Amino acid sequence: MENSPLTLEDVRNQAREKLKGICAVYPVCDGAADRICQRENYGKAIGLGGAGLGGSFRANLEALAKVKLHTRVVGEPFVPDSTFSFFGLTLSMPILGASTSGMSSYNQAITELDFCRATLAGCREAGTLSFRGDTHFYDEDDHFALRAIEEEGGRGVPIFKPRSQDSLKKLLARAIELGVPAVGVDLDGHGSTNFARAGKAVFRKGPEEIRHLVEWAGVPFIAKGIMHPDDAQACADAGVSAVVVSNHGGRVLDSTPGTADVLPSIAQRVGHRVLVLADGGVRNGYDVLKMLALGAKAVLIGRDLIRAGIGGGAPGVRLQMEHHARVFRQAMLMTGCRRLPEIGPSVIA
Ligand SMILES: Cc1cc2nc3c(=O)[nH]c(=O)nc-3n(C[C@H](O)[C@H](O)[C@H](O)COP(=O)(O)O)c2cc1C
Repeated sequence: MENSPLTLEDVRNQAREKLKGICAVYPVCDGAADRICQRENYGKAIGLGGAGLGGSFRANLEALAKVKLHTRVVGEPFVPDSTFSFFGLTLSMPILGASTSGMSSYNQAITELDFCRATLAGCREAGTLSFRGDTHFYDEDDHFALRAIEEEGGRGVPIFKPRSQDSLKKLLARAIELGVPAVGVDLDGHGSTNFARAGKAVFRKGPEEIRHLVEWAGVPFIAKGIMHPDDAQACADAGVSAVVVSNHGGRVLDSTPGTADVLPSIAQRVGHRVLVLADGGVRNGYDVLKMLALGAKAVLIGRDLIRAGIGGGAPGVRLQMEHHARVFRQAMLMTGCRRLPEIGPSVIA
């Protein structure tokens, strides 16, 4: 990529240029009513904003902001270990790239394939892993996420929209052939306004359909978009290996609670049976620590990685993820947590 960025500041400045009129790369990405992503846009595409008045987008940040941390300063010195194990892969941090798609729609600042490549390669270079998304112009036979994951030798997690069962099985088969560590479906994706606008079909999935896909896939299966303990339990009963507590960055329903608000009850209900991940409003390493303290085992980064990938390609994504890891380890140090299992409710003030 031209103008290879040197610092995260360069990356963000380049993203601000490239995303003119769509995202101003504000110091705080919070979906406030006066942000350009969120101003009223009747009938227009959702851009990087949230659904409706953006209440769910904002709730994610508000929920995390309410959580306060205990500072712990007495004890033996230590170097925090942020190593995280994800379905057979050892990652440097419990921070992964979220499944996102449709980036070529924004000022044509990057091609769809290059964006997918940037997130996968940048996360790998930072010692971690990225999920990849799915949208209405990704075809069953020519799928940008799967093409990029293939180039990465299978190191990526495809999260497919809840398309028809037949369509999903074709895509899952392709992904499994590539040797991915896990596959998944964003169950809340049947609320995708982008699919609806394009006249493409997405479906609400029942427990038997989910069970069928899980058994058919035979590799770890992730249900993304879970906001209620009963849905989490239904997915666990259907055999999924992981749930992502997520409101899709506030993009599919306005007026939901923040993900950090619902995370503890979901982790309590299914955390002993399945891996619980969470996303929504995670903007720095302190937020990562809070999500882990509330019951998640790892988090996904959405909008931050979109800006990093568009602003700086793979080097931009690497800088962003390394920055998150550094701040997260600092947060572990200052709350007295040596390893990930030590992060729990006791760090919350
Ligand atoms: C522009 C945009 C596109 C997205 N596309 C997808 C997608 O294709 N599949 C998916 O599962 N989630 C998608 N998401 C949701 C993210 O995976 C994630 O849940 C959300 O961005 C996390 O919130 P954050 O942006 O505040 O970090 C998208 C989010 C944004 C902002």
